[in-house]
Amino acid sequence: MKDYQKLFEPVKIGAFELRTRTAMAPMTRSFSDNETGVVTDDVVEYYRKRAAGGIGLIITEGTVISSRAKGNPGVPGIYTQEQIEGWKKVTDAVHQEGGTIAAQIWHVGRLSHPELIKGQTPEAPSAIAAEGMVPRFRKPYAEPLELSKEDINRVVGEYAQAAKNAIEAGFDGVEIHGAHGYLIDQFNSEASNKRTDEYGGDLAQRLTFMKEVISAVIDAIGADKTIIRFSAHKVDAMEYRWEDADQAIKTFTDAFREVGVKIIHPSALDAQENFAPGRTLYDLARKYWDGPIIGVGDLTADQAEAALEKGIMDVAAFGRPLISNPDFLEKVKAGRGLETYEPKTHLVTLK
Ligand SMILES: Cc1cc2nc3c(=O)[nH]c(=O)nc-3n(C[C@H](O)[C@H](O)[C@H](O)COP(=O)(O)O)c2cc1C
Repeated sequence: MKDYQKLFEPVKIGAFELRTRTAMAPMTRSFSDNETGVVTDDVVEYYRKRAAGGIGLIITEGTVISSRAKGNPGVPGIYTQEQIEGWKKVTDAVHQEGGTIAAQIWHVGRLSHPELIKGQTPEAPSAIAAEGMVPRFRKPYAEPLELSKEDINRVVGEYAQAAKNAIEAGFDGVEIHGAHGYLIDQFNSEASNKRTDEYGGDLAQRLTFMKEVISAVIDAIGADKTIIRFSAHKVDAMEYRWEDADQAIKTFTDAFREVGVKIIHPSALDAQENFAPGRTLYDLARKYWDGPIIGVGDLTADQAEAALEKGIMDVAAFGRPLISNPDFLEKVKAGRGLETYEPKTHLVTLK
């Protein structure tokens, strides 16, 4: 049996006091009430089981900040009182099991369709439709409306309100979903942001919207409770990578320092992939960031332990293994085999 000294070490990052240097990566499961966006009792038990398994930080599935922020059926929200009350059951269950939990706050931007958002038109930095189909909906992405400056102020306010609502619901903090081609990443990316105002231009300029969202969330709940997730790859362009990853990470981390965010969660599909010669995303992140880094991407426990030991991650996040193994960490500790993640079997029930 291997001794995972780092993985099972307690750690404090910001206000999050974690039992182990592990996190459950945010994963959309689509088991909330589709009409109201309220989590069901099955969702409560799903998170309770992962907390009982000893995970350090649970980051919830993407949770939408407004009715227009939604892009998949059955995702939960955090903008109505009924949704807040529902989440209280989840946070209570996780805390009863000694866990810590952050809500991932989410706006999908153009990756939606009017039929998912009560007839509204999706909103995005520029009026350019994404290529492809809405997942689990089989309709093409709609052409979005370009957000005006006034709309941007409203949406930034919705992120801040969602963060406040998360604290009211008993969450220990929030993760801002700035990754994977959704609204914030649509501003960050040259493919979806053709604006000529202060929100468009070179990468540093395109990060303006993200900075405004982070600042508003920090003002609402504090930097110690705020995590920012970002990535190169996008759900509508999985192969997309920054042309110069070293420079991109420098630009992102400069922006993060400017707004005072403390905890970053760069998202890789494969944490071992080189983003620059001989350097993974996490080597690059550490080059420019002294503060806490959450790492992710097809990690095995051995790879996570090595990355923690090397100091390129402070917390290792696991996604799919935690869907197929609620007791993932117990199995790792005991040297027991893991159940392989099979989308066809594991995505259709919430266990
Ligand atoms: C079913 C599923 C749903 C996901 N939903 C989200 C999400 O809501 N928000 C997010 O930031 N990432 C989401 N992801 C990405 C995961 O957080 C994670 O980065 C990815 O699965 C890689 O980690 P893994 O290899 O350990 O699974 C999802 C991944 C899966 C498999």
